[in-house]
Amino acid sequence: MHSDAQVVDSVIRSRKAVRVFRSDAVSQKDIIDILDVARTAPSNSNMQPWRVHVLRGRSKESLSEALVRAHVADLHPPLQHVPDPMPEAYRPMQEEFGARYYGALGIDKADVAGRARATGRNFVFFGAPVGLIFTIDARLKKHSWLDYGLFLQTVMIAARARGLDTCPQVSFARYQTIIAEHLLLEPGFDVVCGMSLGYADHDSVVNRLAIPRETVERFTTFVGFDEEA
Ligand SMILES: Cc1cc2nc3c(=O)[nH]c(=O)nc-3n(C[C@H](O)[C@H](O)[C@H](O)COP(=O)(O)O)c2cc1C
Repeated sequence: MHSDAQVVDSVIRSRKAVRVFRSDAVSQKDIIDILDVARTAPSNSNMQPWRVHVLRGRSKESLSEALVRAHVADLHPPLQHVPDPMPEAYRPMQEEFGARYYGALGIDKADVAGRARATGRNFVFFGAPVGLIFTIDARLKKHSWLDYGLFLQTVMIAARARGLDTCPQVSFARYQTIIAEHLLLEPGFDVVCGMSLGYADHDSVVNRLAIPRETVERFTTFVGFDEEA
């Protein structure tokens, strides 16, 4: 195997959503380097739709406090980030993720309050020292959101290559108005997601979740590969 493939593949495979972080600081230089790599991500017509707020210290805490308050009050409309009802094809994955995640936390499926408390950890960035909020011009179309996904994965891989860990978090999008107020977002900008950034606590069982994936055969159709070359 080409030596680059070994390095790149192993960094990519080492990424997983981390939900318990150590308090160790992340250097601003590392954050800038990560974003400097991520900005090379491709985008339709090179539009580069990403806008990033990087939060640390008191500014991060103050946003977290407001979000936790809103989460506990539960007055904001629920986030509609997945279809309701969930199409059959995706339900087993969603259920398996829930069973593994809440199982690791020791929270019963029927324990609504316990699950809500666990969800609330999103808003303190799972204890990570750095929180990122990603926004996009609301006028842009779904292909710009596709660009955004490429950018986000590049952020996560560049972080991993520096020994850092992440959790991408759509949960923040529920609190668009609070985030807009705290970060003085430009009008017309929507929250895409948040992301926790820091060093994983490897002693935590929650960080040892290995969320399974479908096999290549399951999602790929090879066409023309039986033909003579
Ligand atoms: C766009 C996006 C949004 C996500 N939002 C959340 C979230 O709000 N909270 C959370 O704990 N995990 C969130 N996740 C993490 C997924 O649950 C996780 O990536 C998935 O279960 C696969 O696990 P792995 O990343 O550890 O391999 C999100 C992932 C993505 C890609």
